[in-house]
Amino acid sequence: MFSTSIGPISQTKDYLRPETAQGMFVNFKRLLNFNQGQLPFAAAQIGNSFRNEISPRSGLLRVREFTMAEIEHFVDPIDKTHPKFDTVADLEIQLYSASNQINGETAQLIRLYDAVHSKLINNETLGYFIGRIYLYLIKIGIDKNRIRFRQHMDNEMAHYACDCWDAECKISSGWIECVGCADRSCYDLTQHTKFSGQRLVAERQLSVPKRVQITERRINGTIIGQIFRKDTSIVVKYLENLSENQAHSLHEKLEQENEKCTINEKEFIITRSMFKLETKEKIVQVEEFIPSVIEPTFGIGRLLYVALEHNFKIRPEDNQRKYFTLPPLIAPYKCAVLPLSVNAEFKPFVKQISDLLTQANISHKIDTSSSNIGKRYARCDELGIPFAIAIDFDTLQQPYSIALRELESLKQVRVKIDEIVSVLQDLATENVTWNEIFALYPIFTEQQTKRLEN
Ligand code: GLY
Repeated sequence: MFSTSIGPISQTKDYLRPETAQGMFVNFKRLLNFNQGQLPFAAAQIGNSFRNEISPRSGLLRVREFTMAEIEHFVDPIDKTHPKFDTVADLEIQLYSASNQINGETAQLIRLYDAVHSKLINNETLGYFIGRIYLYLIKIGIDKNRIRFRQHMDNEMAHYACDCWDAECKISSGWIECVGCADRSCYDLTQHTKFSGQRLVAERQLSVPKRVQITERRINGTIIGQIFRKDTSIVVKYLENLSENQAHSLHEKLEQENEKCTINEKEFIITRSMFKLETKEKIVQVEEFIPSVIEPTFGIGRLLYVALEHNFKIRPEDNQRKYFTLPPLIAPYKCAVLPLSVNAEFKPFVKQISDLLTQANISHKIDTSSSNIGKRYARCDELGIPFAIAIDFDTLQQPYSIALRELESLKQVRVKIDEIVSVLQDLATENVTWNEIFALYPIFTEQQTKRLEN
């Protein structure tokens, strides 16, 4: 799609890919083998892609080079049901159909089951991935009230697609496409088969064996070898790689006369004794077909932008205090560790807690600088660190405990040091809610142990 030149003197022309997908289509046979020849199966890839963006701007939103992640889910075109559709069927999602758009209507909140069974969404597998994309967007912190799926209209549908829905997210500048979900049917594998001569097909078992006429190529390597000597393999390969139509034309032509063909700028005369087609009857248990593919495509930069914008907040009591409510799943640091002050008695506890978090693979940021603790909390909030642990004078008393703070309400609970890891893990994986933690652990308002700091 995008031509460029390589090297300092720009002699070699190259082309930059517009999507990661094609690598997975080219590798279809290998992927099918890896999956024991069974459909459905999926492959996923992440990498750089390039688009000829007319006016690159707005940070990560309009760029010519971007990170794209794609899933190719290969499926039998006569059975596009999905065994896990039930897990998403009851989701109610804003769907902005092509007809809503044409009639000037707004998006409608529709249950996925109804959308698939009324054929608004072409098939169950496409519906399944729309549901999974929706859940994924919510999981990475995108506001579910600012998500809609917009169906492509006939005049914007890519040449390869039979139905396509974009997950769009609302940001301050309007709706922006972040994920595409297309049924590309068998377009790509058909095209690669046509141009490469490699049959990118799968097999399905027939319920009743079938009698079929099959045509096989008979390429006589011995005669080709006697005539063409060192060029034998070039000629054999040429004959093997002819498309079905080309092979039939050559077979018919050779009934009448020899065929002169040019291979690698050299002329060869092909005769009947070198090549023919033979048709015979065979009973087959399986039949070949070209799989369809359902493809979710994620624009990673845009998702990151939306997640940041939807989670950017300002504390109502002080408009200087900005913070991000990133879900623990995507927050680079999961937890802040803040001693109340630089008092030397806190140091061993900072180390002990840091060691516990490191052992549990909980990334954390320790701030032992001399700024007051309020400022240090505010710094961590600006970094979007979801959990904060304060080490204070109560920590020094048995049973050793810390204050664990909830980012939005600023409420704190007292948790024993040896329980911190499990509490953080449960909160991070949504095994437990903050409200449950507030009910289970003592709310912390002020220290029991007062001590004057110098
Ligand atoms: N592979 C879909 C797209 O590039 O938009």
